[in-house]
Amino acid sequence: MSGSENSAGAAHGAASLTNVRHVTVIGSGTMGSQIAMVSALAGFETALVDIAQDPLELAKDQLWKRVDRDVEKGRRDGGDVTAAKNRLTFTTDRDAAVASTDLVIEAAVEDLAVKRSLFTSLDAVAPERTVLVTNSSNIVSSRIADATGRPEKVCNMHFFNPALIMECVEVVPHPETSAETVDTVTALAEAFGKSVVRLRREIPGFVANRLLNAIRREALSLHDEGIADVEDIDRAARTALRHPMGPFELMDLVGIDVVYLIRMAEYEQTGDPGSLPAESVTRLYEKGKYGRKTGEGWYTYST
Ligand code: 3HC
Repeated sequence: MSGSENSAGAAHGAASLTNVRHVTVIGSGTMGSQIAMVSALAGFETALVDIAQDPLELAKDQLWKRVDRDVEKGRRDGGDVTAAKNRLTFTTDRDAAVASTDLVIEAAVEDLAVKRSLFTSLDAVAPERTVLVTNSSNIVSSRIADATGRPEKVCNMHFFNPALIMECVEVVPHPETSAETVDTVTALAEAFGKSVVRLRREIPGFVANRLLNAIRREALSLHDEGIADVEDIDRAARTALRHPMGPFELMDLVGIDVVYLIRMAEYEQTGDPGSLPAESVTRLYEKGKYGRKTGEGWYTYST
């Protein structure tokens, strides 16, 4: 099987990755923490940055449990995991981490103003060579790049939850992103052991989330119109379509807050009321029921 223009398999050519040794990840939430662990496991010196010590300690605790379990279950080598732990630092000193880093992956809150101001600060401190990427799936990097003096070194590098497991990374340039930056980010994702989907040009949601959103939108409308219960819609996705989890289970995994903020970010970009979050999602969001991370979302969780 091959694509119409590209041959199948490693379609992107072998970009070499000689220029990235140190990676900094901003934001120690579900995505940022696992992305940082992926980076450390792949052999890169990695700093995970957050504004406070508590989320960093929580992230460290959760990551160590994950990888220790992998060792117990024989899925990873104990020596590799110990080495990766030693390569990963947890810090609130963003400027110190960024001052000598080669590539920054921003995985902070899905809020344009926050991202723009963050990128301005990163640009002021990072060495000239440093590439700045955002893990955002909905805020395209052209909306952030002009907050820096290096738009050619900015793009989206989008991971999937749980980042330690999911193979796909989308690499999305904006019109001014250089080919060198795209190659570096592609090569880094491949060095992380990921399978890269490269977009020719940016569009909010990229490829995978646009596919996912179509299913999610339909699931929410079936639920909100009272056609079927959450459990049954999820069961249909799992048992009729062999999806690993149903759309509601997946929203709880990704985070209702993330789902809500992604819709709001899209609405800001499109102005289309059809982009707004479903009412049921908004209700959960307003009640702080964010899914697995708060113990309740569409489902309730014991831990
Ligand atoms: N983090 C890391 N590893 C995890 C994990 C997590 N949150 N949850 C499960 N795993 C790993 C563990 O190794 C686990 O084995 P263990 O329990 O022995 O340690 C193994 O996966 C199997 O887990 P489970 O038996 O609990 O469940 P599953 O077999 O269903 O696997 C899953 C879990 C990998 C999450 C699978 O259900 C799945 O692939 N679900 C779909 C995920 C998906 O679609 N992600 C994309 C979301 S969209 C997105 O991220 C875009 C963004 O922009 C919002």
